Amino acid sequence: MDKLLIKGGNRLQGDVTISGAKNAALPILCAGLLTSGDVQLSNVPHLQDVRTMLRLLAQTGLKVEQNGDKVTLNGANITSLEAPYELVKTMRASILVLGPLLARFGEAKVSLPGGCAIGSRPVDQHIKGLQALGADITIEAGYIHAKCKKLKGTRIVTDMITVTGTENLMMAAVLAEGETVLENAAREPEVTDLAHLLVAMGAKIDGIGTDRLVIQGVEQLHGASHAVISDRIEAATFLCAVAATGGDITIRNTRTDIMDAALDKLREIGVRLTVGDDWIRAQMDGRPQPVTFRTTEYPGFPTDMQAQFMAVNTIANGASRVTETIFENRFMHVQEMNRLGAAIETDGNTAFIKGVEQLVGAPVMATDLRASASLVIAGLAARGETLVDRIYHLDRGYDRMEVKLQAIGANISRIK
Ligand code: EPU
Repeated sequence: MDKLLIKGGNRLQGDVTISGAKNAALPILCAGLLTSGDVQLSNVPHLQDVRTMLRLLAQTGLKVEQNGDKVTLNGANITSLEAPYELVKTMRASILVLGPLLARFGEAKVSLPGGCAIGSRPVDQHIKGLQALGADITIEAGYIHAKCKKLKGTRIVTDMITVTGTENLMMAAVLAEGETVLENAAREPEVTDLAHLLVAMGAKIDGIGTDRLVIQGVEQLHGASHAVISDRIEAATFLCAVAATGGDITIRNTRTDIMDAALDKLREIGVRLTVGDDWIRAQMDGRPQPVTFRTTEYPGFPTDMQAQFMAVNTIANGASRVTETIFENRFMHVQEMNRLGAAIETDGNTAFIKGVEQLVGAPVMATDLRASASLVIAGLAARGETLVDRIYHLDRGYDRMEVKLQAIGANISRIK
């Protein structure tokens, strides 16, 4: 199992090019199932989760051609309507094939995702929404088996805001008969990016970017081209790294208009930001100021940045409080950071952090994707050596992170 060895203390300096967003690429790849035409994608990130999704899609019969960050999909010959347990268990986002397969072929069988390190993460809202659209759904032998003649548009109000739930229901509704109104829809930029692709494929969607999506179903969709939106979480992760180590970096190929919550907190930390259309220069000297925040849905502070900002808080000049409201178990990095000398206590969904002068390197264990990134940041700021184990979590969602960090002066290497 690969590990990352980090010798902390280097200031970061130079340019980093941000990749396409994992959480946009995954639903967008599934949209290839909705048409027999070619869906041509660019800015697709090199990630384990993307490879897993392409494997899953290929075994349905979707034709996949890949060339660097470009992927062309063709769904003219779909032969299997099933997402098997072996793949779903490694990636929950596999649930995103359910809506498109059901809408286009009238049937889908998708393994029920099991538990997850960061929370129980049920998919009841996906199921409830598809049932409202007229699907007949049974849960049998660990599989969701959905069938329908033709989905029929309706009004759906989800119990909570769900990102992949909104995406699944939107992909189902675009081929349903009549009008579907999705209330309480997620407004995350990745949902919006999927909606833009669907419109390019011939879907009729109003209210894109709002919490009320109004979809007029169409008979069929056609092929289209689309560039996946830049990864705001990867971008903010690099900005947190420089907040922790000090230095002067410029991130490129980014979208500055979808990162307000993170950028505001970085300014509060003391990072000097110069923001262009698709780049951000971040300059940092001295100790970070502590920042208190609670995670919430977009456009609020993203749960996917909670751990990385906590890493910065561990060495801040004072105390802070971090409240996680989206997932019930997303503090597993806390014990690992404490192994590096951080002073964090938790009470329910709130972490209380007393900034310490200096972290000291130690072996630590990555437990999930964003927790892994936070341990890398802590390791970059720590004195001495930090060995981050189980970095397969990191590889799921960051495109060659250690290579990008090496290029801006970090002393980090992958140990096979
Ligand atoms: N929820 C339910 N029932 C449902 C759906 C969601 O109870 O049917 C709950 C979840 O358990 C959670 C909350 O609603 O407590 C929000 O979950 P959501 O459905 O929005 O999360 P998701 O769609 O499973 C996506 C991202 C996550 C990101 C969350 C929140 C993808 C592939 N994943 O997950 O990304 O944290 O939205 O923004 O888009 C990551 O990239 O590290 C990651 C975990």
